[in-house]
Amino acid sequence: MTNRKLIVGNWKMNPGTLAEAKKIAARARRIATTLEHTDAVICPPFVFLGALVPKKPVKQFHIGAQSAYFEESGAFTGEVSVTMLHDIGVEYVIVGHSEERARGDTDEIVAKKVKAVIEAGLTPIVCVGEASRDIEGASHYDVLKEQIKNSFAGVPKRVGRDIILAYEPVWAIGAKESMLPEQIYEMSLFVKKVFSDAFGAETAVEVTVLYGGSVNYRNAADIISIGKVDGLLVGRESLNTVGFVELLKAVDGMKQQ
Ligand code: PGA
Repeated sequence: MTNRKLIVGNWKMNPGTLAEAKKIAARARRIATTLEHTDAVICPPFVFLGALVPKKPVKQFHIGAQSAYFEESGAFTGEVSVTMLHDIGVEYVIVGHSEERARGDTDEIVAKKVKAVIEAGLTPIVCVGEASRDIEGASHYDVLKEQIKNSFAGVPKRVGRDIILAYEPVWAIGAKESMLPEQIYEMSLFVKKVFSDAFGAETAVEVTVLYGGSVNYRNAADIISIGKVDGLLVGRESLNTVGFVELLKAVDGMKQQ
Protein backbone atom coordinates (compact mmCIF):
# COMPACT_ATOMS: atom_id res chain seq x y z
CA MET A 1 0.00 0.00 0.00
CA THR A 2 1.25 3.48 -0.83
CA ASN A 3 -0.39 6.84 -0.53
CA ARG A 4 -1.06 6.79 -4.25
CA LYS A 5 -4.49 5.67 -5.38
CA LEU A 6 -5.01 3.26 -8.23
CA ILE A 7 -8.04 3.50 -10.51
CA VAL A 8 -8.55 0.62 -12.93
CA GLY A 9 -11.10 0.87 -15.73
CA ASN A 10 -12.48 -2.46 -16.89
CA TRP A 11 -14.07 -1.84 -20.28
CA LYS A 12 -15.37 -5.42 -20.60
CA MET A 13 -16.57 -6.14 -24.18
CA ASN A 14 -16.84 -2.46 -25.11
CA PRO A 15 -16.76 -0.22 -27.12
CA GLY A 16 -17.72 -1.47 -30.58
CA THR A 17 -15.05 0.28 -32.63
CA LEU A 18 -11.35 1.13 -32.47
CA ALA A 19 -12.15 4.78 -33.17
CA GLU A 20 -14.32 4.95 -30.06
CA ALA A 21 -11.74 3.08 -28.02
CA LYS A 22 -9.08 5.58 -29.04
CA LYS A 23 -11.33 8.46 -28.03
CA ILE A 24 -12.08 7.07 -24.58
CA ALA A 25 -8.43 6.16 -23.96
CA ALA A 26 -7.21 9.59 -25.08
CA ARG A 27 -9.51 11.35 -22.60
CA ALA A 28 -8.32 9.11 -19.79
CA ARG A 29 -4.68 9.57 -20.73
CA ARG A 30 -4.99 13.35 -20.95
CA ILE A 31 -6.49 13.70 -17.48
CA ALA A 32 -4.09 11.12 -16.07
CA THR A 33 -1.10 13.28 -16.93
CA THR A 34 -2.47 15.95 -14.56
CA LEU A 35 -2.93 13.58 -11.60
CA GLU A 36 -0.69 14.02 -8.59
CA HIS A 37 -1.64 11.20 -6.23
CA THR A 38 -3.40 8.78 -8.54
CA ASP A 39 -2.53 6.29 -11.26
CA ALA A 40 -4.99 5.19 -13.91
CA VAL A 41 -5.04 1.85 -15.71
CA ILE A 42 -7.46 1.11 -18.52
CA CYS A 43 -8.27 -2.45 -19.55
CA PRO A 44 -9.70 -2.50 -23.08
CA PRO A 45 -10.54 -5.69 -25.02
CA PHE A 46 -7.54 -7.58 -26.47
CA VAL A 47 -8.01 -6.35 -30.06
CA PHE A 48 -7.56 -2.72 -29.05
CA LEU A 49 -4.59 -3.14 -26.72
CA GLY A 50 -1.80 -2.72 -29.27
CA ALA A 51 -3.28 0.51 -30.60
CA LEU A 52 -3.79 1.99 -27.15
CA VAL A 53 -0.43 1.40 -25.48
CA PRO A 54 1.14 4.90 -25.33
CA LYS A 55 4.09 5.30 -27.69
CA LYS A 56 5.90 7.26 -24.97
CA PRO A 57 5.36 6.00 -21.41
CA VAL A 58 3.09 8.16 -19.25
CA LYS A 59 3.87 7.92 -15.53
CA GLN A 60 0.26 7.92 -14.30
CA PHE A 61 -1.38 6.02 -17.18
CA HIS A 62 -1.06 2.31 -17.94
CA ILE A 63 -2.68 -0.38 -20.01
CA GLY A 64 -4.07 -3.64 -18.66
CA ALA A 65 -5.66 -6.70 -20.23
CA GLN A 66 -8.90 -8.20 -18.98
CA SER A 67 -7.55 -11.72 -19.01
CA ALA A 68 -4.68 -13.93 -20.21
CA TYR A 69 -4.01 -17.62 -20.56
CA PHE A 70 -1.55 -19.40 -18.29
CA GLU A 71 0.29 -21.42 -20.95
CA GLU A 72 3.29 -19.86 -22.64
CA SER A 73 2.43 -20.81 -26.25
CA GLY A 74 1.03 -23.66 -28.29
CA ALA A 75 -2.24 -25.19 -29.45
CA PHE A 76 -4.68 -23.11 -27.41
CA THR A 77 -7.08 -21.70 -29.96
CA GLY A 78 -8.58 -18.39 -28.96
CA GLU A 79 -6.20 -17.70 -26.09
CA VAL A 80 -3.67 -14.92 -25.51
CA SER A 81 -0.49 -15.47 -23.50
CA VAL A 82 1.06 -13.18 -20.91
CA THR A 83 4.26 -13.06 -22.98
CA MET A 84 2.31 -11.61 -25.90
CA LEU A 85 0.78 -8.98 -23.64
CA HIS A 86 4.14 -8.09 -22.12
CA ASP A 87 5.67 -7.80 -25.58
CA ILE A 88 3.24 -5.09 -26.69
CA GLY A 89 3.59 -3.02 -23.51
CA VAL A 90 0.67 -4.19 -21.40
CA GLU A 91 1.52 -3.89 -17.69
CA TYR A 92 -1.48 -5.24 -15.78
CA VAL A 93 -3.81 -8.21 -16.19
CA ILE A 94 -7.19 -8.68 -14.53
CA VAL A 95 -7.40 -12.26 -13.30
CA GLY A 96 -10.47 -14.08 -12.00
CA HIS A 97 -13.10 -11.47 -12.72
CA SER A 98 -16.47 -12.86 -11.64
CA GLU A 99 -17.70 -12.77 -15.23
CA GLU A 100 -14.78 -15.01 -16.25
CA ARG A 101 -15.27 -17.23 -13.23
CA ALA A 102 -18.93 -17.58 -14.27
CA ARG A 103 -17.76 -18.78 -17.70
CA GLY A 104 -15.64 -21.51 -16.15
CA ASP A 105 -12.47 -20.14 -14.52
CA THR A 106 -12.07 -22.09 -11.29
CA ASP A 107 -9.91 -20.99 -8.35
CA GLU A 108 -7.29 -23.44 -9.64
CA ILE A 109 -7.20 -21.80 -13.06
CA VAL A 110 -7.08 -18.38 -11.41
CA ALA A 111 -4.04 -19.46 -9.36
CA LYS A 112 -2.28 -20.69 -12.52
CA LYS A 113 -3.00 -17.39 -14.23
CA VAL A 114 -1.73 -15.38 -11.27
CA LYS A 115 1.55 -17.30 -11.41
CA ALA A 116 1.90 -16.89 -15.17
CA VAL A 117 1.21 -13.14 -15.01
CA ILE A 118 3.80 -12.59 -12.28
CA GLU A 119 6.40 -14.75 -14.00
CA ALA A 120 6.00 -12.64 -17.15
CA GLY A 121 6.74 -9.49 -15.12
CA LEU A 122 3.20 -8.13 -15.25
CA THR A 123 0.98 -7.16 -12.32
CA PRO A 124 -2.10 -9.27 -11.68
CA ILE A 125 -5.27 -7.58 -10.46
CA VAL A 126 -6.94 -10.53 -8.82
CA CYS A 127 -10.70 -10.31 -8.34
CA VAL A 128 -12.40 -11.97 -5.41
CA GLY A 129 -15.85 -11.53 -3.95
CA GLU A 130 -18.87 -13.32 -2.61
CA ALA A 131 -21.88 -13.98 -4.84
CA SER A 132 -24.33 -13.00 -2.12
CA ARG A 133 -24.38 -11.92 1.50
CA ASP A 134 -25.73 -14.23 4.15
CA ILE A 135 -27.00 -11.71 6.68
CA GLU A 136 -28.04 -14.33 9.27
CA GLY A 137 -25.40 -17.03 8.99
CA ALA A 138 -22.55 -14.83 7.69
CA SER A 139 -21.40 -17.76 5.52
CA HIS A 140 -20.12 -15.33 2.89
CA TYR A 141 -17.01 -14.84 5.02
CA ASP A 142 -16.17 -18.54 4.67
CA VAL A 143 -16.93 -18.50 0.94
CA LEU A 144 -14.66 -15.53 0.43
CA LYS A 145 -11.92 -17.00 2.61
CA GLU A 146 -11.90 -20.24 0.61
CA GLN A 147 -11.91 -18.36 -2.66
CA ILE A 148 -8.94 -16.20 -1.67
CA LYS A 149 -6.98 -19.16 -0.27
CA ASN A 150 -7.55 -21.25 -3.37
CA SER A 151 -6.99 -18.44 -5.86
CA PHE A 152 -3.42 -18.12 -4.53
CA ALA A 153 -2.66 -21.80 -3.99
CA GLY A 154 0.96 -22.44 -4.96
CA VAL A 155 1.70 -18.76 -5.56
CA PRO A 156 5.10 -18.15 -3.89
CA LYS A 157 5.01 -16.00 -0.74
CA ARG A 158 7.74 -13.69 -2.00
CA VAL A 159 5.53 -12.38 -4.83
CA GLY A 160 2.66 -11.38 -2.55
CA ARG A 161 3.71 -7.75 -2.77
CA ASP A 162 3.31 -7.76 -6.55
CA ILE A 163 -0.36 -8.71 -6.35
CA ILE A 164 -3.26 -6.28 -6.47
CA LEU A 165 -6.39 -7.57 -4.81
CA ALA A 166 -9.73 -6.38 -6.14
CA TYR A 167 -12.58 -7.04 -3.76
CA GLU A 168 -15.72 -7.11 -5.86
CA PRO A 169 -18.89 -8.43 -4.23
CA VAL A 170 -20.57 -10.04 -7.24
CA TRP A 171 -24.01 -8.76 -6.24
CA ALA A 172 -22.76 -5.16 -6.42
CA ILE A 173 -21.35 -5.47 -9.98
CA GLY A 174 -23.53 -3.89 -12.64
CA ALA A 175 -25.98 -2.91 -9.90
CA LYS A 176 -27.69 0.36 -9.02
CA GLU A 177 -25.70 0.99 -5.87
CA SER A 178 -22.26 0.05 -4.65
CA MET A 179 -21.70 -1.70 -1.35
CA LEU A 180 -21.87 0.82 1.50
CA PRO A 181 -18.45 2.35 2.25
CA GLU A 182 -18.68 1.21 5.91
CA GLN A 183 -19.21 -2.38 4.76
CA ILE A 184 -16.38 -2.02 2.26
CA TYR A 185 -14.10 -1.06 5.14
CA GLU A 186 -15.10 -4.15 7.09
CA MET A 187 -14.70 -6.45 4.08
CA SER A 188 -11.37 -4.95 3.02
CA LEU A 189 -10.02 -5.68 6.50
CA PHE A 190 -11.27 -9.24 6.22
CA VAL A 191 -9.74 -9.69 2.78
CA LYS A 192 -6.40 -8.40 4.07
CA LYS A 193 -6.56 -10.72 7.04
CA VAL A 194 -7.07 -13.75 4.80
CA PHE A 195 -4.34 -12.52 2.48
CA SER A 196 -2.04 -12.17 5.47
CA ASP A 197 -2.70 -15.80 6.46
CA ALA A 198 -1.43 -16.83 3.03
CA PHE A 199 1.37 -14.34 2.45
CA GLY A 200 2.34 -13.12 5.92
CA ALA A 201 1.39 -9.99 7.83
CA GLU A 202 4.17 -7.81 6.41
CA THR A 203 3.09 -8.44 2.85
CA ALA A 204 -0.58 -7.98 3.67
CA VAL A 205 0.12 -4.54 5.12
CA GLU A 206 1.64 -3.50 1.82
CA VAL A 207 -0.80 -5.12 -0.56
CA THR A 208 -2.95 -2.84 -2.69
CA VAL A 209 -6.65 -3.51 -2.21
CA LEU A 210 -9.21 -2.16 -4.64
CA TYR A 211 -12.99 -2.14 -4.38
CA GLY A 212 -15.16 -2.79 -7.42
CA GLY A 213 -18.92 -2.84 -8.01
CA SER A 214 -21.04 0.09 -9.20
CA VAL A 215 -18.42 2.74 -8.58
CA ASN A 216 -19.10 6.14 -10.14
CA TYR A 217 -17.75 9.65 -9.87
CA ARG A 218 -20.19 10.47 -7.08
CA ASN A 219 -19.38 7.62 -4.70
CA ALA A 220 -15.67 7.12 -5.54
CA ALA A 221 -14.12 9.45 -2.94
CA ASP A 222 -16.31 8.14 -0.08
CA ILE A 223 -15.53 4.55 -0.96
CA ILE A 224 -11.82 5.30 -0.76
CA SER A 225 -11.90 7.49 2.36
CA ILE A 226 -14.52 5.61 4.42
CA GLY A 227 -13.89 2.18 2.89
CA LYS A 228 -10.13 2.71 3.34
CA VAL A 229 -9.20 0.99 0.09
CA ASP A 230 -6.23 1.89 -2.08
CA GLY A 231 -8.23 2.32 -5.24
CA LEU A 232 -11.13 1.21 -7.38
CA LEU A 233 -11.98 -1.21 -10.16
CA VAL A 234 -14.49 0.59 -12.31
CA GLY A 235 -16.73 -0.98 -14.96
CA ARG A 236 -19.45 1.13 -16.59
CA GLU A 237 -18.16 4.49 -15.42
CA SER A 238 -14.80 3.85 -17.08
CA LEU A 239 -16.49 4.00 -20.50
CA ASN A 240 -18.27 7.23 -19.70
CA THR A 241 -15.62 9.73 -20.69
CA VAL A 242 -17.08 12.56 -18.61
CA GLY A 243 -17.79 10.32 -15.61
CA PHE A 244 -14.35 8.71 -15.63
CA VAL A 245 -12.59 12.06 -15.84
CA GLU A 246 -14.68 13.37 -12.94
CA LEU A 247 -13.96 10.21 -10.98
CA LEU A 248 -10.20 10.56 -11.44
CA LYS A 249 -10.37 14.22 -10.44
CA ALA A 250 -12.48 13.43 -7.36
CA VAL A 251 -10.07 10.75 -6.18
CA ASP A 252 -6.97 12.80 -6.91
CA GLY A 253 -8.42 15.82 -5.13
CA MET A 254 -9.10 13.91 -1.91
CA LYS A 255 -7.31 14.99 1.22
CA GLN A 256 -4.29 12.72 1.54
CA GLN A 257 -4.76 10.14 4.28
P1 PGA B 1 -19.44 -1.97 -12.65
O1 PGA B 1 -18.47 -3.19 -12.97
O2 PGA B 1 -18.60 -0.84 -12.18
O3 PGA B 1 -20.14 -1.69 -13.93
O4 PGA B 1 -20.40 -2.45 -11.57
C1 PGA B 1 -17.38 -3.45 -12.13
C2 PGA B 1 -16.61 -4.67 -12.59
O5 PGA B 1 -17.22 -5.63 -13.08
O6 PGA B 1 -15.38 -4.72 -12.48
